Amino acid sequence: MNAPFPPATTDAEHVRHVVKLLPLHREFTASTTQSLLQAALQAGIELPSSCRNGTCRACICRALSGTVAYPMAWPGLSAEEKAEGWCLPCVARAQSDLVLEQPLALALPG
Ligand code: FES
Repeated sequence: MNAPFPPATTDAEHVRHVVKLLPLHREFTASTTQSLLQAALQAGIELPSSCRNGTCRACICRALSGTVAYPMAWPGLSAEEKAEGWCLPCVARAQSDLVLEQPLALALPG
């Protein structure tokens, strides 16, 4: 028997969280499967970056609230830095709504 509606999906692709970026006061959404850097770019916001693989720390910023996860065992942050809320948006994935502080973020013309 067919269900009258498509089944609810639990696919992480479809789980999106709201990311508020300070001091720019812009918001964008990020899925749990894309980096915060990618999500910001899709929303027309450029964050600092270089290696984009979690090693150079050019993108480091602070998560004032919320939770992120990393696809690798150990991104270029110390345990203390992680505990203090520092994150690497080039590899960090949103696991909840977030407030990020990145004074170097730029709104792209568009
Ligand atoms: S861009 Fe190098 S650690 Fe994020």
